[in-house]
Amino acid sequence: MDGAPRDEPAFGPVALSPRILGRVNASAAGFRTAMGQFATGVTVVTTLDGDRPQGITVNALASVSLDPPLVLVALDRRRFIIPAIEASGRYAVSILGEDQQWLSDCFAGANVTPGRDAFCGADWDPGETGLPLLRGAVATLECTVVNRIEAGDHLLFVGHVDAVRLQDETAPPLLYHRRRYLRIERATTTTVAGKPESPAD
Ligand SMILES: Cc1cc2nc3c(=O)[nH]c(=O)nc-3n(C[C@H](O)[C@H](O)[C@H](O)COP(=O)(O)O)c2cc1C
Repeated sequence: MDGAPRDEPAFGPVALSPRILGRVNASAAGFRTAMGQFATGVTVVTTLDGDRPQGITVNALASVSLDPPLVLVALDRRRFIIPAIEASGRYAVSILGEDQQWLSDCFAGANVTPGRDAFCGADWDPGETGLPLLRGAVATLECTVVNRIEAGDHLLFVGHVDAVRLQDETAPPLLYHRRRYLRIERATTTTVAGKPESPAD
């Protein structure tokens, strides 16, 4: 140590240059567009309202900790499902497969019949903890809420993962990117065993 004063790490807005801060604050639309570049999967977060299953489409899912296993979902404070999650203290996450876009739309409140109030007519099974899991989902998690964090206009529900089901590890997931659904291309090449048309090829 030479005794010279060391720079203290600075966190938060004070650490940002005015130029960057200005840009961050410039527009909510810009923020949304920037975050739209971040491709995600699509899930339906479900819970039980008494014995009635309820669900909502969510892409703001993050893996938070491995030990203990924790995830979080971010929900706009206005979401209809919040009182049911808070009352039950539990939620499940069904990660949708690429053929389940209709479930994403319905659980996001699309004007379809049967609608979200009828659980979109979706096939489901109770998981190990009794929470509703969508049949055909790529994977499911059953969680107990261990933390509820107020964050701006959203609420973050940190959930301890009590049970995991992998329905089909290789099934392609439904993706969401730039506010549109996205599917993984599966173009492949394979060796030809037969004789090629021209031996020189
Ligand atoms: C692909 C997709 C992802 C979404 N992700 C979230 C999310 O992470 N958090 C959230 O609060 N709403 C999210 N929404 C919006 C809600 O699903 C939708 O606005 C909601 O179901 C309307 O419910 P409400 O009547 O309770 O407002 C998403 C919608 C779509 C289509």
